[in-house]
Amino acid sequence: MAYGATQLPRMAWYLGHGVVMRQLSRRARRSAGENSRPPARTNLPVPDRWRLYRDMAALLQQDLANVEAGLYPLPLDHDGSLPDLLERSRLFFADLPAVHQRREGGQSQEVLNEQTRGKRPRYYLQNFHFQSGGWLTPESAQRYDTQVEVLLYGSANAARRQVLPPLHEVFAGRDQRRLRLLDVGCGTGRSLDFCKQVWPRLPAVGIDLSEAYIAEAKRHLRRWGWISLLVANAEAVPLETESQDAVTVNFVFHELPPAVRRIVFGEIARVLKPGGRLVVLDSVQTGDEPDYDGMLELFPQNYHEPYYASYIREDLGALGRACGLTPVGEIKAFVSKVMVFDKHAKS
Ligand SMILES: C[S@@+](CC[C@H](N)C(=O)[O-])C[C@H]1O[C@@H](n2cnc3c(N)ncnc32)[C@H](O)[C@@H]1O
Repeated sequence: MAYGATQLPRMAWYLGHGVVMRQLSRRARRSAGENSRPPARTNLPVPDRWRLYRDMAALLQQDLANVEAGLYPLPLDHDGSLPDLLERSRLFFADLPAVHQRREGGQSQEVLNEQTRGKRPRYYLQNFHFQSGGWLTPESAQRYDTQVEVLLYGSANAARRQVLPPLHEVFAGRDQRRLRLLDVGCGTGRSLDFCKQVWPRLPAVGIDLSEAYIAEAKRHLRRWGWISLLVANAEAVPLETESQDAVTVNFVFHELPPAVRRIVFGEIARVLKPGGRLVVLDSVQTGDEPDYDGMLELFPQNYHEPYYASYIREDLGALGRACGLTPVGEIKAFVSKVMVFDKHAKS
C-alpha cells in the first residue's frame, strides 16, 4: 500500500502532463494547417497505449517485488515539495512552444554558438530532445527530470532502480565503505540518489560533461555524503585504472555517436577493477520487443536524437566483449532495459 500510495499518484501526475502536452501539440499543428511538418512515419509495428500500460505495470510490479525481496528500500523519489513540483511543471510547459517550433522547423543546433564552440565536443553541442539550452543551461537542468518522466509515463525512476539488483549481486556482503562506484553521464543525479538509498556510505563518483547538470546533481544529492560530482568527459574518465568496483551508465549510450560509444566502453573497461561490473540502463533496441520496433523508429524523428537510430542497431554485447567486458544478463524495464557486463577477474 505504501508503494502504491507514493508511486501511483506520481505516475498519474506525469501521465497527465503527457496528455496535456499531446493535446497542445495537436492544437498547434491544426492551427498551422498545411504549413505543419508532415507527421513522422514508420512501416513497422507501433504498440497501442494498452500494451504500453501493461508493460509499465510489469515494471512497477518488478520494482515492488525488489523492495519486498529486500534488494532496496521503499523508494523515495525526492521530487521536492508541492511548490517545487509545480514550478518544475511550469518550466516544462513554458518550454513546450519553443520545443514545438524547433521540431516543426527541424532546428537542433542553436546551442552551437560563439560561446560554446570548441568548449565541448561537436556532437554534444545540439538541442537534444529539441530542448532549450541542450545540456548546457541551468534551466535545462531544472526541466530535464520532468521531461524524461513525461516521456517515460512517470516510470523513469522505477527504470533507474532496476540497476540496483545487479549492483546488489556484486556488493552484497562486502563493506560498502571499501567499494567504489562510478556513474557515467550522471545528469541531475537521480540514479546516484537511489544507489545511496541502499548504500549510504558507499563512496561514489558521478561525472557529466554539463556544468549545469552537475550543479543540479549537487543540489539534489546534498543530503548524502561520500559523493564526488565532477564535470568531465566520459571519453577520458578522470579516475585511475582498475579503481572501480562498479560503473553505471544510465540513458547515455543512445546520446553518443557510434565512435564515441566505443571510446566510452574502453574507458569504463579501463577504470573497472578485474571482476568489476558494468550496469547499463538504456532504451530497448530493434528486435528486443518486435511490437515496439515502429515506436523506436518514430522516437528520433519526434525528439532530436541524432544517434538513436544507430544506437537501436548497435550490438552492445560486442562492444563490451571487444574491451574485455562479458555480457552476463539483461533485465527488461518497460521501454528500457538493463544490460550487465563483468570484467574478467585476474587468475
Ligand atoms: C539523457 S541524459 C542521462 C542522465 C542521467 N544518467 C539519467 O539517468 O537521467 C544524458 C547525459 O549524458 C551526458 N553526456 C553526454 N555526453 C557525455 C560525455 N561525452 N561525457 C559525459 N557526459 C555526457 C549529458 O550531459 C546528459 O547529462
